Amino acid sequence: MPPAASGFTISFSKKCIVVTGGNRGIGYAFTRAAASAGANVAVIYRSSKDAEEVTEKVGKEFGVKTKAYRCDVSNTVLVNETFKKINNEMGPISGLIANAGISVVKPAMDLTADDFHTVYDVNVFGVFNTARAAAKYVPPHVFAHSPSWLLL
Ligand SMILES: NC(=O)c1ccc[n+]([C@@H]2O[C@H](COP(=O)([O-])OP(=O)(O)OC[C@H]3O[C@@H](n4cnc5c(N)ncnc54)[C@H](OP(=O)(O)O)[C@@H]3O)[C@@H](O)[C@H]2O)c1
Repeated sequence: MPPAASGFTISFSKKCIVVTGGNRGIGYAFTRAAASAGANVAVIYRSSKDAEEVTEKVGKEFGVKTKAYRCDVSNTVLVNETFKKINNEMGPISGLIANAGISVVKPAMDLTADDFHTVYDVNVFGVFNTARAAAKYVPPHVFAHSPSWLLL
């Protein structure tokens, strides 16, 4: 008998996973990975014109529900409203991939305090905002070590 395969498989069938920045770059790969594992995927983006089209295509390719939501992750009020909308339309939310991020590319000595705050607001505060908004939808039993919720 062959040895059992190592690792494990997770099925996201009928679960709603939120991917911030899921319309392009690394986030797009996360969107595709979640969809290929059967998840319905809610993509959060900031301003890309083609985000809705890109997200819809992934849904068609993998036969799952996908929808793009325009939202600045650094805006707490907007994030809370958007997660509520996602949960109503696609939920229950079963996972968050907090991927959205930016960088200011210039020589280190030219970086300003404003540059720092711009990056911090998205890459740190944005992750905090989205994780906190998503946590409202984590069922109580998950806090008792159930593996049925995803946070990346
Ligand atoms: N690429 C690398 O080498 C690298 C290395 C280390 C870490 N990372 C991190 O990995 C993550 C993804 O990187 P990437 O290279 O794939 O980035 P990317 O191609 O520049 O894509 C960034 C994504 O984040 C979204 N986004 C940016 N600001 C946002 C905001 N305020 N609210 C909501 N969405 C926002 C963008 O939406 P729009 O399309 O609407 O603008 C886009 O979907 C980032 O957090 C980055 O810091 C990347």
